[in-house]
Amino acid sequence: MSSRGNWGSKVGFILAASGSAVGLGNIWRFPYTTGKNGGAVFVLIYLVAILVVALPVLIAEVALGRFTGKNPVGAFAAVRPGPGGGGPSPSPGRRILKSLMQWKLVGYLGVLTGFMILSYYSVIAGWTVGYFFKAVTGEIQQITTANTEQVYHSFVSNPLLQICLLAFFLFLTVFVVARGVSGGIERFAKILMPVLLGILALLLVRSLTLSNASAGLAFYLKPDFSKFSFPVVVEALGQAFFSMSLGMGTMITYGSYVNKTENLPGSTAWIAFFDTLIAFLAGLIIFPAIFHAGMDPAGGPGLVFKILPVIFAQMPGGLIFGPLFFLLLSIAALTSTISVLEVPVAFAIDELKLNRRKAAWIIGIITLGVGIPSALSENFLGLWNYIWGNLSLSIGALGVAIFVGYVWKTSKALLEITKGSERFRFAGFWILSIKYITPLSIVLILVGIIVLGITF
Ligand code: PHE
Repeated sequence: MSSRGNWGSKVGFILAASGSAVGLGNIWRFPYTTGKNGGAVFVLIYLVAILVVALPVLIAEVALGRFTGKNPVGAFAAVRPGPGGGGPSPSPGRRILKSLMQWKLVGYLGVLTGFMILSYYSVIAGWTVGYFFKAVTGEIQQITTANTEQVYHSFVSNPLLQICLLAFFLFLTVFVVARGVSGGIERFAKILMPVLLGILALLLVRSLTLSNASAGLAFYLKPDFSKFSFPVVVEALGQAFFSMSLGMGTMITYGSYVNKTENLPGSTAWIAFFDTLIAFLAGLIIFPAIFHAGMDPAGGPGLVFKILPVIFAQMPGGLIFGPLFFLLLSIAALTSTISVLEVPVAFAIDELKLNRRKAAWIIGIITLGVGIPSALSENFLGLWNYIWGNLSLSIGALGVAIFVGYVWKTSKALLEITKGSERFRFAGFWILSIKYITPLSIVLILVGIIVLGITF
C-alpha cells in the first residue's frame, strides 16, 4: 500500500478533498445556475440536496475507498469480484453478457469520465488563467457592457491561445499529481486552500459594501416560491453531485489514502461544509456585484467571464479585486483538476502497474489531445459537459448508491464508516438515503437530463 501513497494527516485529507470539491463548480457554475433558476429557492433546494443526498454518497464513496484501498475499478472488483473462475465455461454470448454485468464497469465508467471531465474542465480553467492575465495587465479596465461579449468571443475563439492555456493548465495539474499523494496533492492543498479563503474574505467585504448590494442579497437569500419547478430540483441535485466531486470515483480514490484510524463521518462533514460554504460565499460576492452594476443575474455560463470584468472595471479597487478574483478561480480549479487526474492515475498505478510519474504524464498528454475539440468549440464543450458532467456523473452516483446499499450492503459499509470513530449518530438516516432517497433522486435527475434534455 505504501507505494500508492497515503495522506500525511487528517487535516491534509480534509483539505485535499475539500480542494477537490471546491472548484469552478462553486465559483463559476453555482452562481450562474442559481441566477438562472430564480435565486434563493434554488439555494434552498441545493442545501437540502447536499445534506440529504450528496453527503451520504460522499460517505459511501470514501468508505468504499478506504475499505478496499484501491482506485474505483479495483474497489468495485475487490468487494464484488464478479463472474469468472471455476465451473463449466459458458457460451460466448453468456460470457459477454456476464462480463457486461460486472460492477467494476461502474469503476471503468468513472475512470473514463475522469479523462473526459478533465479535458473540458481544464479548458474553462484555462479561461480563468487568461482572464487573470487580462486583469493583471489592466486590459480588463477597458471592458464595458458594450464590448464584453466581443472581448469574450475573440478570447475563446483564438485557437492557438486556447490550446496553449489548456496545455498550461494540464501541465500544472500533472506537475502536482506526479509528486504523489502527500508530497504533491496534500502539500499544495494545504497552501492553496487557506489562500483561497483569504481572497474570498477580501472580495466579500468589497462586494457587500457596494451600493445596491441589498438588492442582490434579496435575490440570493429571499425565496420566491413561485420560481419552484421540476427543472430547478433537477439542476440543484445535479449541482450538488458535481460540486462534491461525486459519481466518478474521485472520493473513492481519495478515500483509499485515508488512515483506518480516521473518523469518516467527521471528516466528510467538514468537506461538505467547506464545499457549501465556499459556493455560498461565491454567491454572496457575485449577486451584490451584479445588482450594483444593474445587470441580469440570469446571464448564463458567461456570468463570471462576461459580467464580472465589467463590474471590476467600474468598481472602486477593481484593479486589485479583478486579478484576485481570477487568481482565486484558477486556484480553486487547480485543486479540482488534480483530483480528477488522480482517478485515472491511481487506476494506472494499481491496475496497469505504471509508476506515478509516468502515469501522470501519459494521461496528461492524452487528455490534452482529447481536450482540443473543447478548446476549439464552445458547442462541443457544452455537449461534453452534458454527456460527462451531467449524465455520466449521475449514472456513476446511482451505481455507487445501489452498490453500497444492496451489494456491499449498508451493514458492512457501516462497519467501515464507524472504524476510527466512536459512533455515527446519523447511521439510520444514512441507510435510508443510500438505499431509497438517493437512488430515487438520481432517477429523477436522469429523467430530467434524458427526457427533458435539461443541462446544467
Ligand atoms: N467538484 C469540482 C467543482 O466543483 C468538480 C469535480 C467534479 C471534481 C467531479 C472532481 C470530480 O468544481
